[in-house]
Amino acid sequence: MTRLVVISNRVSIPESGKPQAGGLAVAITGALNEYGGLWFGWGGKVSQSSTSRPTTVQHDNITYATLPLSKEDYDDYYLGFSNEVVWPVFHFNLGAMDFRLNYAKAYQRVNERFASSLSTLLEGGELIWVHDYHLLPLGKALRGQGVSDPIGFFLHIPFPSYDLLRALPGYRELLDDLLHYNLLGFQTDNDLHAFRQAVIETFDAVVFGDTIECNGKQVRTGVYPVGIDVDELAGEAERSCANEQARQLKQDLGERDLIIGADRLDYSKGLVQRFNAFEALLTHFKHRRQRTMFMQIASPSRSAIPEYDELRRQLEEMAGHINGTYADLDWVPVHYLNKTYPREALIGLFRSARVGLVTPLRDGMNLVCKEFVAAQDPDDPGVLVLSELAGAAHELSGALLVNPYDVHAIASAIEQALNMPLDERRERYQQMIGMLRRNSLFEWRRRFMEHLSQQQADAQSSA
Ligand code: F6P
Repeated sequence: MTRLVVISNRVSIPESGKPQAGGLAVAITGALNEYGGLWFGWGGKVSQSSTSRPTTVQHDNITYATLPLSKEDYDDYYLGFSNEVVWPVFHFNLGAMDFRLNYAKAYQRVNERFASSLSTLLEGGELIWVHDYHLLPLGKALRGQGVSDPIGFFLHIPFPSYDLLRALPGYRELLDDLLHYNLLGFQTDNDLHAFRQAVIETFDAVVFGDTIECNGKQVRTGVYPVGIDVDELAGEAERSCANEQARQLKQDLGERDLIIGADRLDYSKGLVQRFNAFEALLTHFKHRRQRTMFMQIASPSRSAIPEYDELRRQLEEMAGHINGTYADLDWVPVHYLNKTYPREALIGLFRSARVGLVTPLRDGMNLVCKEFVAAQDPDDPGVLVLSELAGAAHELSGALLVNPYDVHAIASAIEQALNMPLDERRERYQQMIGMLRRNSLFEWRRRFMEHLSQQQADAQSSA
Protein backbone atom coordinates (compact mmCIF):
# COMPACT_ATOMS: atom_id res chain seq x y z
CA MET A 1 0.00 0.00 0.00
CA THR A 2 1.16 3.57 -0.76
CA ARG A 3 2.74 5.32 2.22
CA LEU A 4 0.91 8.38 3.57
CA VAL A 5 2.75 11.54 4.60
CA VAL A 6 0.82 14.06 6.69
CA ILE A 7 2.08 17.55 7.41
CA SER A 8 0.48 19.90 9.91
CA ASN A 9 1.76 22.82 11.93
CA ARG A 10 1.48 20.90 15.20
CA VAL A 11 2.27 17.22 15.42
CA SER A 12 0.49 15.24 18.07
CA ILE A 13 2.93 12.59 19.35
CA PRO A 14 1.37 9.81 21.45
CA GLU A 15 2.11 10.06 25.14
CA SER A 16 3.18 6.78 26.73
CA GLY A 17 2.01 4.82 23.69
CA LYS A 18 -1.57 6.25 23.67
CA PRO A 19 -2.64 8.51 20.77
CA GLN A 20 -3.51 12.03 21.91
CA ALA A 21 -7.22 12.69 22.44
CA GLY A 22 -8.98 15.06 20.04
CA GLY A 23 -10.87 14.43 16.83
CA LEU A 24 -8.28 15.39 14.31
CA ALA A 25 -5.37 13.69 16.01
CA VAL A 26 -7.46 10.52 16.12
CA ALA A 27 -8.40 10.76 12.42
CA ILE A 28 -4.88 11.44 11.25
CA THR A 29 -3.37 8.75 13.48
CA GLY A 30 -5.98 6.31 12.16
CA ALA A 31 -5.17 7.10 8.52
CA LEU A 32 -1.43 6.90 9.16
CA ASN A 33 -1.78 3.58 10.95
CA GLU A 34 -3.87 2.20 8.10
CA TYR A 35 -1.48 3.27 5.34
CA GLY A 36 1.73 3.31 7.36
CA GLY A 37 3.30 6.68 7.30
CA LEU A 38 5.03 9.79 8.38
CA TRP A 39 3.63 12.76 10.33
CA PHE A 40 5.75 15.86 9.97
CA GLY A 41 5.55 19.34 11.53
CA TRP A 42 6.39 21.51 14.51
CA GLY A 43 7.03 19.57 17.71
CA GLY A 44 5.68 22.41 19.90
CA LYS A 45 9.14 23.44 21.20
CA VAL A 46 10.78 26.84 20.84
CA SER A 47 14.56 26.66 20.56
CA GLN A 48 17.46 29.15 20.49
CA SER A 49 18.10 28.71 16.79
CA SER A 50 16.33 27.16 13.81
CA THR A 51 17.34 23.82 12.35
CA SER A 52 16.24 21.72 9.36
CA ARG A 53 17.21 18.44 10.99
CA PRO A 54 14.04 16.72 12.23
CA THR A 55 13.81 14.65 15.39
CA THR A 56 12.08 11.35 14.68
CA VAL A 57 10.28 8.84 16.89
CA GLN A 58 8.45 5.69 15.86
CA HIS A 59 5.14 4.45 17.35
CA ASP A 60 3.55 1.40 15.74
CA ASN A 61 3.23 2.06 12.02
CA ILE A 62 3.94 5.78 12.23
CA THR A 63 7.11 7.86 12.16
CA TYR A 64 6.73 11.25 13.84
CA ALA A 65 9.26 13.78 12.54
CA THR A 66 9.34 17.20 14.16
CA LEU A 67 11.26 20.44 13.94
CA PRO A 68 11.48 23.07 16.69
CA LEU A 69 10.73 26.72 15.88
CA SER A 70 13.22 29.44 16.81
CA LYS A 71 11.82 32.23 19.00
CA GLU A 72 11.76 34.51 15.95
CA ASP A 73 9.90 31.93 13.83
CA TYR A 74 7.44 31.27 16.66
CA ASP A 75 6.73 35.01 16.96
CA ASP A 76 6.66 35.84 13.26
CA TYR A 77 5.49 32.66 11.48
CA TYR A 78 3.17 31.07 14.08
CA LEU A 79 1.83 34.00 16.11
CA GLY A 80 2.51 36.62 13.44
CA PHE A 81 1.57 35.65 9.90
CA SER A 82 -0.46 32.52 10.68
CA ASN A 83 -2.48 33.90 13.58
CA GLU A 84 -2.41 37.70 13.22
CA VAL A 85 -2.81 37.82 9.46
CA VAL A 86 -4.27 34.67 7.88
CA TRP A 87 -6.46 33.62 10.84
CA PRO A 88 -8.31 36.95 11.26
CA VAL A 89 -8.78 37.56 7.52
CA PHE A 90 -10.01 34.01 6.92
CA HIS A 91 -12.41 34.50 9.87
CA PHE A 92 -13.80 37.69 8.27
CA ASN A 93 -12.21 39.93 10.94
CA LEU A 94 -10.09 42.49 9.11
CA GLY A 95 -9.92 44.69 12.21
CA ALA A 96 -7.78 42.08 13.97
CA MET A 97 -5.27 41.75 11.11
CA ASP A 98 -1.78 43.05 11.90
CA PHE A 99 0.24 42.69 8.71
CA ARG A 100 4.01 43.11 8.95
CA LEU A 101 6.70 42.39 6.38
CA ASN A 102 8.79 40.32 8.81
CA TYR A 103 5.72 38.11 9.43
CA ALA A 104 5.29 37.48 5.70
CA LYS A 105 9.00 36.68 5.30
CA ALA A 106 8.97 34.27 8.26
CA TYR A 107 5.90 32.49 6.88
CA GLN A 108 7.69 31.87 3.60
CA ARG A 109 10.96 30.97 5.34
CA VAL A 110 9.40 28.39 7.67
CA ASN A 111 7.40 26.81 4.84
CA GLU A 112 10.62 26.55 2.78
CA ARG A 113 12.43 25.01 5.73
CA PHE A 114 9.63 22.50 6.31
CA ALA A 115 9.84 21.56 2.62
CA SER A 116 13.60 21.09 2.51
CA SER A 117 13.60 19.14 5.78
CA LEU A 118 10.67 16.95 4.75
CA SER A 119 12.11 16.19 1.32
CA THR A 120 15.05 14.38 3.00
CA LEU A 121 12.53 11.97 4.55
CA LEU A 122 10.46 11.24 1.45
CA GLU A 123 10.91 7.93 -0.34
CA GLY A 124 8.95 8.66 -3.55
CA GLY A 125 5.65 7.07 -4.59
CA GLU A 126 3.81 8.47 -1.53
CA LEU A 127 0.56 10.34 -0.95
CA ILE A 128 1.22 13.71 0.68
CA TRP A 129 -1.53 15.43 2.69
CA VAL A 130 -0.94 18.98 3.99
CA HIS A 131 -3.24 20.49 6.65
CA ASP A 132 -4.37 24.02 7.30
CA TYR A 133 -3.63 27.69 7.05
CA HIS A 134 -0.10 27.69 8.45
CA LEU A 135 1.10 25.78 5.41
CA LEU A 136 -0.57 27.33 2.33
CA PRO A 137 2.81 27.65 0.47
CA LEU A 138 4.13 24.19 1.39
CA GLY A 139 2.99 22.40 -1.78
CA LYS A 140 4.79 24.87 -4.03
CA ALA A 141 7.88 24.73 -1.80
CA LEU A 142 7.86 20.91 -2.05
CA ARG A 143 7.61 21.13 -5.84
CA GLY A 144 10.68 23.40 -5.66
CA GLN A 145 12.46 20.52 -3.90
CA GLY A 146 11.65 18.24 -6.85
CA VAL A 147 8.75 16.38 -5.20
CA SER A 148 6.44 15.05 -7.93
CA ASP A 149 4.01 12.84 -5.94
CA PRO A 150 0.40 14.03 -5.58
CA ILE A 151 -0.02 16.60 -2.83
CA GLY A 152 -3.41 17.31 -1.27
CA PHE A 153 -4.29 20.25 0.97
CA PHE A 154 -7.20 20.52 3.39
CA LEU A 155 -8.27 23.87 4.82
CA HIS A 156 -9.80 23.43 8.28
CA ILE A 157 -10.87 27.07 8.61
CA PRO A 158 -13.22 29.13 6.42
CA PHE A 159 -12.11 30.59 3.09
CA PRO A 160 -12.93 34.32 2.98
CA SER A 161 -14.91 36.03 0.28
CA TYR A 162 -12.82 37.59 -2.49
CA ASP A 163 -13.40 41.16 -1.32
CA LEU A 164 -12.08 40.35 2.15
CA LEU A 165 -9.17 38.32 0.83
CA ARG A 166 -8.02 41.29 -1.25
CA ALA A 167 -7.22 43.15 1.97
CA LEU A 168 -4.46 40.63 2.74
CA PRO A 169 -1.20 41.95 1.27
CA GLY A 170 0.28 39.20 -0.95
CA TYR A 171 -3.03 37.39 -1.40
CA ARG A 172 -2.25 36.68 -5.09
CA GLU A 173 0.85 34.72 -4.08
CA LEU A 174 -1.15 32.75 -1.51
CA LEU A 175 -3.78 31.89 -4.11
CA ASP A 176 -1.05 30.87 -6.56
CA ASP A 177 0.52 28.71 -3.81
CA LEU A 178 -2.73 26.79 -3.50
CA LEU A 179 -2.79 26.12 -7.23
CA HIS A 180 0.35 23.97 -6.84
CA TYR A 181 -1.60 21.25 -5.01
CA ASN A 182 -3.27 18.39 -6.88
CA LEU A 183 -6.30 18.27 -4.60
CA LEU A 184 -7.78 21.09 -2.50
CA GLY A 185 -10.34 20.24 0.18
CA PHE A 186 -12.72 22.65 1.92
CA GLN A 187 -15.20 22.26 4.78
CA THR A 188 -18.30 23.60 3.01
CA ASP A 189 -19.68 24.55 -0.41
CA ASN A 190 -19.41 28.21 0.64
CA ASP A 191 -15.67 27.93 1.17
CA LEU A 192 -15.11 26.16 -2.13
CA HIS A 193 -17.27 28.72 -3.91
CA ALA A 194 -15.29 31.61 -2.33
CA PHE A 195 -11.99 30.05 -3.42
CA ARG A 196 -13.24 29.53 -6.98
CA GLN A 197 -14.46 33.10 -7.15
CA ALA A 198 -11.09 34.39 -5.92
CA VAL A 199 -9.08 32.50 -8.58
CA ILE A 200 -11.54 33.45 -11.32
CA GLU A 201 -11.32 37.15 -10.39
CA THR A 202 -7.57 37.13 -9.83
CA PHE A 203 -6.26 34.84 -12.58
CA ASP A 204 -9.17 34.32 -14.98
CA ALA A 205 -9.22 30.67 -13.92
CA VAL A 206 -11.58 28.31 -15.72
CA VAL A 207 -13.76 25.91 -13.75
CA PHE A 208 -15.05 22.68 -15.23
CA GLY A 209 -16.75 20.27 -12.84
CA ASP A 210 -14.49 19.66 -9.83
CA THR A 211 -11.42 20.95 -11.62
CA ILE A 212 -9.95 24.42 -11.82
CA GLU A 213 -7.60 25.22 -14.67
CA CYS A 214 -5.36 28.17 -14.16
CA ASN A 215 -1.89 29.40 -15.21
CA GLY A 216 -1.26 26.09 -16.99
CA LYS A 217 -2.10 24.03 -13.90
CA GLN A 218 -5.08 21.82 -13.10
CA VAL A 219 -6.31 21.41 -9.52
CA ARG A 220 -9.09 19.13 -8.35
CA THR A 221 -11.28 20.58 -5.61
CA GLY A 222 -13.84 19.12 -3.24
CA VAL A 223 -15.92 19.59 -0.10
CA TYR A 224 -15.10 17.29 2.81
CA PRO A 225 -16.88 18.28 6.05
CA VAL A 226 -14.83 17.10 9.05
CA GLY A 227 -16.82 14.84 11.35
CA ILE A 228 -16.43 12.99 14.63
CA ASP A 229 -16.28 9.39 15.81
CA VAL A 230 -19.90 9.19 17.02
CA ASP A 231 -19.70 5.77 18.69
CA GLU A 232 -16.53 6.58 20.59
CA LEU A 233 -18.06 9.82 21.88
CA ALA A 234 -21.44 8.36 22.73
CA GLY A 235 -19.72 5.54 24.64
CA GLU A 236 -17.55 8.01 26.53
CA ALA A 237 -20.64 10.10 27.38
CA GLU A 238 -22.51 7.10 28.72
CA ARG A 239 -19.58 6.05 30.88
CA SER A 240 -19.24 9.61 32.19
CA CYS A 241 -22.64 9.32 33.94
CA ALA A 242 -21.05 6.94 36.41
CA ASN A 243 -18.11 9.13 37.42
CA GLU A 244 -17.84 11.09 40.64
CA GLN A 245 -17.53 14.46 38.90
CA ALA A 246 -20.84 13.94 37.05
CA ARG A 247 -22.62 12.87 40.24
CA GLN A 248 -21.30 15.93 42.05
CA LEU A 249 -22.41 18.24 39.24
CA LYS A 250 -25.89 16.70 39.22
CA GLN A 251 -26.14 17.26 42.94
CA ASP A 252 -24.92 20.88 42.67
CA LEU A 253 -27.35 21.63 39.85
CA GLY A 254 -30.36 20.21 41.68
CA GLU A 255 -33.43 21.35 39.72
CA ARG A 256 -31.45 23.92 37.75
CA ASP A 257 -30.84 23.68 33.99
CA LEU A 258 -27.26 23.72 32.78
CA ILE A 259 -26.40 25.77 29.69
CA ILE A 260 -22.90 24.97 28.46
CA GLY A 261 -20.30 26.50 26.16
CA ALA A 262 -16.78 25.12 25.63
CA ASP A 263 -14.37 26.83 23.26
CA ARG A 264 -10.80 27.94 22.80
CA LEU A 265 -10.58 31.48 24.09
CA ASP A 266 -10.67 33.04 20.62
CA TYR A 267 -12.41 36.16 19.30
CA SER A 268 -13.90 34.11 16.45
CA LYS A 269 -16.01 32.11 18.94
CA GLY A 270 -18.48 34.93 19.70
CA LEU A 271 -18.01 34.73 23.47
CA VAL A 272 -18.74 38.39 24.21
CA GLN A 273 -22.06 38.20 22.36
CA ARG A 274 -22.81 34.89 24.12
CA PHE A 275 -22.28 36.43 27.58
CA ASN A 276 -24.50 39.34 26.58
CA ALA A 277 -27.12 36.86 25.39
CA PHE A 278 -27.13 35.09 28.74
CA GLU A 279 -27.56 38.42 30.49
CA ALA A 280 -30.42 39.23 28.08
CA LEU A 281 -32.03 35.91 29.05
CA LEU A 282 -31.90 36.86 32.73
CA THR A 283 -33.26 40.33 31.96
CA HIS A 284 -36.08 39.46 29.54
CA PHE A 285 -37.06 36.02 30.80
CA LYS A 286 -36.99 36.72 34.51
CA HIS A 287 -38.36 33.29 35.42
CA ARG A 288 -34.96 31.87 34.35
CA ARG A 289 -33.24 33.53 37.31
CA GLN A 290 -32.33 30.97 39.97
CA ARG A 291 -33.34 28.19 37.55
CA THR A 292 -30.38 28.21 35.12
CA MET A 293 -26.64 28.06 35.33
CA PHE A 294 -24.40 29.07 32.43
CA MET A 295 -21.03 27.32 32.39
CA GLN A 296 -18.48 28.65 29.93
CA ILE A 297 -15.19 26.84 29.56
CA ALA A 298 -12.67 28.92 27.63
CA SER A 299 -9.36 27.15 27.21
CA PRO A 300 -6.39 29.51 26.99
CA SER A 301 -5.04 29.89 23.45
CA ARG A 302 -2.46 32.10 21.66
CA SER A 303 -2.36 34.34 24.73
CA ALA A 304 0.73 36.25 23.52
CA ILE A 305 -1.48 37.92 20.86
CA PRO A 306 -2.96 41.17 22.25
CA GLU A 307 -6.55 40.49 21.01
CA TYR A 308 -6.63 37.18 22.88
CA ASP A 309 -5.37 38.70 26.11
CA GLU A 310 -7.84 41.57 25.83
CA LEU A 311 -10.69 39.09 25.29
CA ARG A 312 -9.70 37.16 28.43
CA ARG A 313 -9.82 40.38 30.43
CA GLN A 314 -13.17 41.37 28.92
CA LEU A 315 -14.80 38.01 29.67
CA GLU A 316 -13.58 38.06 33.27
CA GLU A 317 -15.16 41.49 33.63
CA MET A 318 -18.43 40.38 32.01
CA ALA A 319 -18.71 37.24 34.18
CA GLY A 320 -18.06 39.41 37.26
CA HIS A 321 -20.66 41.94 36.12
CA ILE A 322 -23.41 39.34 35.51
CA ASN A 323 -22.70 37.56 38.79
CA GLY A 324 -22.46 40.87 40.65
CA THR A 325 -25.84 41.93 39.27
CA TYR A 326 -27.86 38.70 39.51
CA ALA A 327 -26.24 36.24 41.95
CA ASP A 328 -27.94 35.43 45.23
CA LEU A 329 -26.94 33.67 48.44
CA ASP A 330 -27.77 30.30 46.95
CA TRP A 331 -27.18 30.91 43.23
CA VAL A 332 -24.27 31.97 41.01
CA PRO A 333 -25.49 32.32 37.40
CA VAL A 334 -22.18 32.26 35.45
CA HIS A 335 -19.41 29.72 35.96
CA TYR A 336 -16.56 30.98 33.85
CA LEU A 337 -13.58 28.63 33.67
CA ASN A 338 -10.49 29.87 31.88
CA LYS A 339 -8.82 26.45 31.85
CA THR A 340 -8.26 23.45 29.64
CA TYR A 341 -10.15 20.33 30.68
CA PRO A 342 -9.61 16.77 29.45
CA ARG A 343 -11.96 15.72 26.70
CA GLU A 344 -13.65 13.06 28.90
CA ALA A 345 -14.57 15.76 31.43
CA LEU A 346 -16.08 17.98 28.72
CA ILE A 347 -18.12 15.11 27.31
CA GLY A 348 -19.53 14.42 30.78
CA LEU A 349 -20.52 18.08 31.11
CA PHE A 350 -22.17 18.04 27.67
CA ARG A 351 -24.24 15.03 28.74
CA SER A 352 -25.48 16.88 31.83
CA ALA A 353 -26.45 20.04 29.95
CA ARG A 354 -29.95 20.99 28.74
CA VAL A 355 -28.56 23.47 26.21
CA GLY A 356 -25.30 23.56 24.25
CA LEU A 357 -24.36 27.08 23.16
CA VAL A 358 -22.06 27.12 20.13
CA THR A 359 -22.20 30.59 18.64
CA PRO A 360 -19.01 31.42 16.69
CA LEU A 361 -18.98 34.58 14.57
CA ARG A 362 -17.32 32.41 11.90
CA ASP A 363 -16.01 28.87 12.05
CA GLY A 364 -14.70 26.45 9.42
CA MET A 365 -16.69 23.56 10.86
CA ASN A 366 -16.75 23.47 14.70
CA LEU A 367 -16.47 20.05 16.24
CA VAL A 368 -17.66 21.06 19.73
CA CYS A 369 -21.26 21.24 18.51
CA LYS A 370 -20.95 17.78 16.96
CA GLU A 371 -19.48 16.41 20.18
CA PHE A 372 -22.30 18.01 22.18
CA VAL A 373 -24.90 16.19 20.07
CA ALA A 374 -23.10 12.83 20.20
CA ALA A 375 -22.83 13.11 24.00
CA GLN A 376 -26.61 13.44 24.55
CA ASP A 377 -28.85 10.79 26.05
CA PRO A 378 -30.99 9.66 23.05
CA ASP A 379 -34.04 9.24 25.34
CA ASP A 380 -33.78 12.70 26.87
CA PRO A 381 -31.50 14.83 24.69
CA GLY A 382 -30.46 18.44 25.29
CA VAL A 383 -30.85 21.09 22.59
CA LEU A 384 -28.12 22.65 20.48
CA VAL A 385 -28.19 26.41 19.85
CA LEU A 386 -25.85 26.89 16.91
CA SER A 387 -24.49 29.83 14.96
CA GLU A 388 -25.62 29.86 11.36
CA LEU A 389 -22.09 31.10 10.53
CA ALA A 390 -20.40 27.86 11.64
CA GLY A 391 -19.65 25.31 8.92
CA ALA A 392 -21.56 22.69 10.94
CA ALA A 393 -24.81 24.66 10.46
CA HIS A 394 -24.92 23.31 6.87
CA GLU A 395 -25.38 19.80 8.29
CA LEU A 396 -27.13 20.26 11.65
CA SER A 397 -30.58 21.49 10.70
CA GLY A 398 -31.92 19.95 13.93
CA ALA A 399 -30.19 22.69 15.92
CA LEU A 400 -31.80 26.03 16.75
CA LEU A 401 -29.85 28.19 14.31
CA VAL A 402 -29.07 31.76 15.35
CA ASN A 403 -27.25 34.82 14.08
CA PRO A 404 -24.33 34.98 16.55
CA TYR A 405 -24.32 38.80 16.50
CA ASP A 406 -28.01 38.93 17.49
CA VAL A 407 -27.91 38.79 21.28
CA HIS A 408 -31.72 38.82 21.64
CA ALA A 409 -32.16 36.03 19.09
CA ILE A 410 -29.69 33.89 21.07
CA ALA A 411 -31.53 34.63 24.34
CA SER A 412 -34.86 33.70 22.73
CA ALA A 413 -33.36 30.49 21.30
CA ILE A 414 -32.13 29.50 24.78
CA GLU A 415 -35.61 30.12 26.13
CA GLN A 416 -37.13 28.05 23.30
CA ALA A 417 -34.63 25.25 23.99
CA LEU A 418 -35.45 25.19 27.69
CA ASN A 419 -39.19 24.98 26.92
CA MET A 420 -38.89 22.42 24.14
CA PRO A 421 -41.10 19.31 24.50
CA LEU A 422 -39.41 15.91 24.65
CA ASP A 423 -40.81 14.74 21.28
CA GLU A 424 -39.34 17.70 19.46
CA ARG A 425 -36.00 17.31 21.22
CA ARG A 426 -35.83 13.66 20.18
CA GLU A 427 -36.78 14.47 16.60
CA ARG A 428 -34.09 17.14 16.32
CA TYR A 429 -31.53 14.86 17.94
CA GLN A 430 -32.34 12.06 15.45
CA GLN A 431 -31.79 14.39 12.48
CA MET A 432 -28.44 15.47 13.85
CA ILE A 433 -27.10 12.11 15.00
CA GLY A 434 -28.07 10.54 11.65
CA MET A 435 -26.13 13.24 9.83
CA LEU A 436 -23.13 12.84 12.14
CA ARG A 437 -23.06 9.11 11.44
CA ARG A 438 -23.23 9.66 7.68
CA ASN A 439 -20.58 12.42 7.63
CA SER A 440 -18.27 10.82 10.17
CA LEU A 441 -14.60 11.47 10.73
CA PHE A 442 -13.82 8.23 8.89
CA GLU A 443 -15.90 9.23 5.88
CA TRP A 444 -14.06 12.58 5.75
CA ARG A 445 -10.67 10.91 5.65
CA ARG A 446 -11.81 8.06 3.36
CA ARG A 447 -13.16 10.40 0.68
CA PHE A 448 -10.16 12.74 0.76
CA MET A 449 -7.71 9.83 0.56
CA GLU A 450 -9.70 8.21 -2.25
CA HIS A 451 -9.61 11.39 -4.31
CA LEU A 452 -5.91 11.91 -3.63
CA SER A 453 -5.18 8.32 -4.68
CA GLN A 454 -7.11 8.95 -7.91
CA GLN A 455 -4.77 11.87 -8.61
CA GLN A 456 -1.86 9.47 -8.22
CA ALA A 457 -3.47 6.87 -10.51
CA ASP A 458 -4.19 9.56 -13.14
CA ALA A 459 -0.60 10.80 -12.98
CA GLN A 460 0.72 7.26 -13.38
CA SER A 461 -1.52 6.45 -16.34
CA SER A 462 -0.59 9.67 -18.18
CA ALA A 463 3.19 9.18 -17.53
O1 F6P B 1 -9.08 25.62 14.23
C1 F6P B 1 -7.80 25.62 13.72
C2 F6P B 1 -6.81 24.97 14.67
O2 F6P B 1 -5.56 24.84 14.04
C3 F6P B 1 -7.29 23.61 15.14
O3 F6P B 1 -7.01 22.60 14.23
C4 F6P B 1 -6.59 23.47 16.46
O4 F6P B 1 -7.29 22.68 17.37
C5 F6P B 1 -6.54 24.88 16.97
O5 F6P B 1 -6.63 25.73 15.85
C6 F6P B 1 -5.32 25.06 17.85
O6 F6P B 1 -4.62 26.18 17.59
P1 F6P B 1 -3.11 26.37 18.00
O7 F6P B 1 -2.29 25.32 17.28
O8 F6P B 1 -2.81 27.75 17.57
O9 F6P B 1 -3.03 26.17 19.48
